Amino acid sequence: MKIRNSATVVCIITMQLFMGHLLAQTKRNFMNEQHRPQIHFSPAAHWMNDPNGMVFYKGVYHLFFQHNPGASIWGPMHWGHATSKDLIHWQEQPIALYPDSLGTIFSGSAVADIHNTSGFGRDGKVPLVAIFTHHNDHLGAGRNDFQNQSIAYSLDEGKSWTKYSGNPVLKNPGIKDFRDPKVMWHEAGKKWVMTLATKDHITFYSSKNLKSWQKESEFGAAIGAHGGVWECPDLFSLPYQGKTIWVLLVSINPGGPNGGSATQYFTGNFDGKTFTPFETDTRWIDYGADNYAGITWSNTGSRKIFIGWMNNWQYANIVPTEQWRSANTIPRDLAIKKVGDHYYLASQPVKELSVIKEKTKVFENIAIGNYDLGKSIGSLNGAARIDIIANQSESFSFTLSNAAGEQVIAGYDKAINQYYIDRSKSGKIDFEKGFAAKHTAPRLSPKNITQLTLVIDDASIELFADDGLTVMTEIFFPNKPYDQMHIQSASNFLLKKIVYTELKSIWHK
Ligand code: FRU
Repeated sequence: MKIRNSATVVCIITMQLFMGHLLAQTKRNFMNEQHRPQIHFSPAAHWMNDPNGMVFYKGVYHLFFQHNPGASIWGPMHWGHATSKDLIHWQEQPIALYPDSLGTIFSGSAVADIHNTSGFGRDGKVPLVAIFTHHNDHLGAGRNDFQNQSIAYSLDEGKSWTKYSGNPVLKNPGIKDFRDPKVMWHEAGKKWVMTLATKDHITFYSSKNLKSWQKESEFGAAIGAHGGVWECPDLFSLPYQGKTIWVLLVSINPGGPNGGSATQYFTGNFDGKTFTPFETDTRWIDYGADNYAGITWSNTGSRKIFIGWMNNWQYANIVPTEQWRSANTIPRDLAIKKVGDHYYLASQPVKELSVIKEKTKVFENIAIGNYDLGKSIGSLNGAARIDIIANQSESFSFTLSNAAGEQVIAGYDKAINQYYIDRSKSGKIDFEKGFAAKHTAPRLSPKNITQLTLVIDDASIELFADDGLTVMTEIFFPNKPYDQMHIQSASNFLLKKIVYTELKSIWHK
């Protein structure tokens, strides 16, 4: 294009600025639309599923995610990318990995290759290495080797990625579901360990350089829940009173405790080769319907931070949002807790959630026959965290509701010793038969105290009971925002303490 004079140049620049402003404005508006989570990450536009490649490097938390940039339903998978300095405020970045001749980009992980074992580092720059599944739809019917593991690296702190010319680095031996590599550095063995979902079990591989992988062992074909295919595993260790306890997460779909997708876990030992569980009963990191495919950040030392996809394959493609589809859970700190002789995995919202704390109100010794919490705080206006302590284990419930008569109830039922979330009258429920339901979770704590933390957003509730021993995450879609809150109990006892904390939207500074 030939530019004729300076007036034209000024005109073009003004137009560009105006378009830029319009775009930014539109993006901001999207972040306000109905059901858009205000304290959870969701992409500005289109489809998201599993969190991928989470790595902490130079003060930045990287979050990649399964993303279809062309539509708000699942489709050709890319790795979307977002970054945060505090795990709460996220900035979406350009797409990190695009499909190529080897396939679309399925789930996986990323590591900071500090010792440059891969040789991808240059001029002292530490390579970030992503390990992911190449999913090749075009191999034709009758083949079952279309999922293979590949790698890519970044020398500019995750901004741009180069796929390795020797991909795939781990070829499919003929297993249809062969995916979702999670890689960790095994310090004792001075090697990388890959935990891979291989249909109905886990296969562990090891490598000295992230490029050539040897099989170490298999786990789980006859252990744990098998109501669906095994996906998105994670293996990591956590300290517990001077001991090292290993945790293996395995997502399964379907077959979750409340239907559809969910993530089970095992505690045990890992010697660099073999995972040996302490027990073989099935436990779930979250009993709610909407926490799937979650894994932990790498390169965070002994702190293990987890994030999950806040949805369920039963209905993920048809939940009533349009511009975008799906958000993540709040990031959670993981810890080992012992009950009797058993080691459990507990989750709590990360302490960084307090960066969006607005006003806090504390209520003590509250008689909760039917306590109008909304009235006491001047009605719910957006997101909140509510901490409740009861000095006994009596039944009680917390209700979120609106003037349209829609409601979500979370509570504890002493008669059956279970926590629950009931979304059967929560608003838009007809998009999926079975969405309108009351879901339950076992209470594991033997204590005579009930501690509940509720994290509430426009379209979700996360319940952390007894310091995170029992967790439930559920989504909902009210026709009008919930603005009322009540706490009820049939036995009119005194609740020791309620701490109500209003949380500020992460999208508006
Ligand atoms: C889990 C999953 C993964 C796969 C990805 C595809 O939700 O099915 O196993 O890599 O989603 O998007």
